[in-house]
Amino acid sequence: MSAPVLTLQSSPDSDETTWHINPGQASGLRGTIQVPGDKSISHRALMLGAIAQGETQIRGLLLGEDPRSTAACFRAMGAEISELNTTLVTVRGLGLGKLQEPNQVLDAGNSGTTLRLMMGILASHPDRLFTVTGDASLRSRPMGRVVTPLRQMGAQIWGRKGDTLAPLAIRGQQLQPTHYHSPIASAQVKSAVLLAGLLAEGQTTVTEPALSRDHSERMLRAFGAKVTVDPETCSATVTGPASLFGQSVVVPGDISSAAFWLVAAAIVPNSDLLIENVGVNPTRTGILDILLEMGADITLENAREAAGEPVADLRVRSSKLKACTIEGSIIPRLIDEIPVLAVAAIAAQGTTLIRDAQELRVKESDRLAAIASQLNRMGARVTETADGLEITGGGALQGAEVDSFTDHRIAMSLAIAALYASGTTTIHRAEAAAISYPVFADTLRSLFS
Ligand code: S3P
Repeated sequence: MSAPVLTLQSSPDSDETTWHINPGQASGLRGTIQVPGDKSISHRALMLGAIAQGETQIRGLLLGEDPRSTAACFRAMGAEISELNTTLVTVRGLGLGKLQEPNQVLDAGNSGTTLRLMMGILASHPDRLFTVTGDASLRSRPMGRVVTPLRQMGAQIWGRKGDTLAPLAIRGQQLQPTHYHSPIASAQVKSAVLLAGLLAEGQTTVTEPALSRDHSERMLRAFGAKVTVDPETCSATVTGPASLFGQSVVVPGDISSAAFWLVAAAIVPNSDLLIENVGVNPTRTGILDILLEMGADITLENAREAAGEPVADLRVRSSKLKACTIEGSIIPRLIDEIPVLAVAAIAAQGTTLIRDAQELRVKESDRLAAIASQLNRMGARVTETADGLEITGGGALQGAEVDSFTDHRIAMSLAIAALYASGTTTIHRAEAAAISYPVFADTLRSLFS
């Protein structure tokens, strides 16, 4: 029997896990897999369930650390959320404006989506005080981007560094509707404002410079809110006061998790992989557009709709890739996939340019710095620019010792780079993968067993 492609090593005196990956003589990635539930949709299902009247049923929830943080926060405010599992989670909602003042600090852990969306909800709860925080990474990420529009609606919020960093305190208010012109295309900002607008009397609109993911708009509508969108102007409007009613939500597989296998199967020779039940909402499919432009062999099969979200099975076979330029309005449609697209670019002929991606500097880590520095340790030719990367592809990679920077997407992108490299790659702090993909290592092993 050949040596295992991936072995795990847990540190006895910390929570750290190290992955050792050596593709050896393994042939390509072949078979049929499924990926865990979509992280963005999982958060929203738990949150809307908690603030709706009646029962929400969630099938296919992501069991990652981030949705666990959301569930813990809303349980602390009185929502009854059953034990989390992928089969069926039930949420007994309290109704809009009915969250209880928690007698503890709400801890969003590593999750920007939890913290920012929750702030929008909390700001509209008069006479209650909420304190919110997160882990070291989240406490360093910018919160002014939601504080500014929420204040425009009348919210009272205090925090570190001029009210821009967590921990933050929020005293809920009766909010006023607003039209917010966001300087950044961010679904977290847009969602926070729309959620705050649910209890404001009148129309609350967010206009963005480019269209970001629209899961909140879709789910709010399914729960009974009046939401309109204007794709021409990249605007979304909610009319308050709204009423939300519990629904049945089916969470599709996360295209951001499928992205690792799409790139792996595209660049590792002799691969033929079917990834079943992946969400293909058009605001998330930039990765497919770019991989196809690079020459990847990807087909969508069995396209269907599940609970208001488009879903398909994705078949990917290895092929020769060529470089491309990734910039402009496609960036929000693939914002979380840029680290793994950098790995695809290493295998592509020519120089790939990524621009307009400065948002990556304020994700769970500075993803431009993290992916460039760690891929270069493996022999890649990646240059960081202020707002992106320049990647000269076509060269080989060698196994090296690299670090996740405690960022889930960096850990998994480096694992895919390791499959393309010769020798052993050692990935430190790989436990970060559990934020969005707790069974990533199991799936990787199963593909080569
Ligand atoms: C998310 C939006 C994106 C994305 C994040 C999840 C969401 O962040 O990077 O992983 O669920 O709304 P921004 O909207 O801040 O770009």
